[in-house]
Amino acid sequence: MSIDVAVNERTWNSPEVVATYTARRYITPAEVRVLGTCWSKIAGGKVLDIGIGTGRTVPFLAPFAASYSGIDYMPNMVAAARRQHPNRDLRQADARELPFADGEFSFVLFSFNGIDYVDPDHRPRILGEAHRVLARGGLFVYSTHNLAARGGDARSRFAASLPQLHVSRPARAAAAVVRGLAANVRAYRNFRKLEHQQRVGSDVAFILDGAHEYSLFTCYVTQAYERRALATAGFTVRDVIEPDGRLAGDSSSARDLYFVNERA
Ligand SMILES: C[S@@+](CC[C@H](N)C(=O)[O-])C[C@H]1O[C@@H](n2cnc3c(N)ncnc32)[C@H](O)[C@@H]1O
Repeated sequence: MSIDVAVNERTWNSPEVVATYTARRYITPAEVRVLGTCWSKIAGGKVLDIGIGTGRTVPFLAPFAASYSGIDYMPNMVAAARRQHPNRDLRQADARELPFADGEFSFVLFSFNGIDYVDPDHRPRILGEAHRVLARGGLFVYSTHNLAARGGDARSRFAASLPQLHVSRPARAAAAVVRGLAANVRAYRNFRKLEHQQRVGSDVAFILDGAHEYSLFTCYVTQAYERRALATAGFTVRDVIEPDGRLAGDSSSARDLYFVNERA
């Protein structure tokens, strides 16, 4: 059964969600390691940054590359990224159909689990497109949620969490409780409306994990599943990196993993 992923697109395009991404000015320890490992393909190279959101990764790549293009499939994300980085080539485009020539890039990034928001059946198209636009020997790096991190509970369960009360500031506490209650009501409604569409397999799951008030289907995969998909798409996995920047073993249960892959 295929899932109505229009809910994902509505979530990424909503002004509230765009606003939560706008203030981000950092890269993660895993991404620091990725930059180090891949620097020869980034500095002076041709870089494609997929799923840029509001442009968090732009300052860490664009100033060093010979050419830099960033894309996101949601117009409000691209508009916010352009406001922050007006002189960069930032466009609205879908990772499943990249508007770039074969072999154009030395480095392609899809950061912060962005690949996990398309239906898993569409995932091979993204791997295929990244392969097509990379030159031979180019690197494709992306992170994805790790199914091993969820143990036996792949299917998400709704759990309301009320904000903590700070009694020294009763007025603020009351406002926080009201906001928290409203958020929980929205989350509960989203969960009840969408939960029956979740898909859970032993190697891949597409589930509501609570992100953005249960308004996102998120793909979780095992490392073995992803390695097979990458081999099929024509990539050699060079490294798998945990969020803290350490190399991941085969049985890593880190929440998400960065895959660093060379185009054969
Ligand atoms: C978790 S957010 C990360 C945003 C940004 N990379 C960051 O780290 O702050 C995932 C982003 O991927 C984008 N995205 C998801 N599927 C996409 C697709 N098929 N093509 C292009 N962008 C996509 C979403 O619109 C969203 O902006």
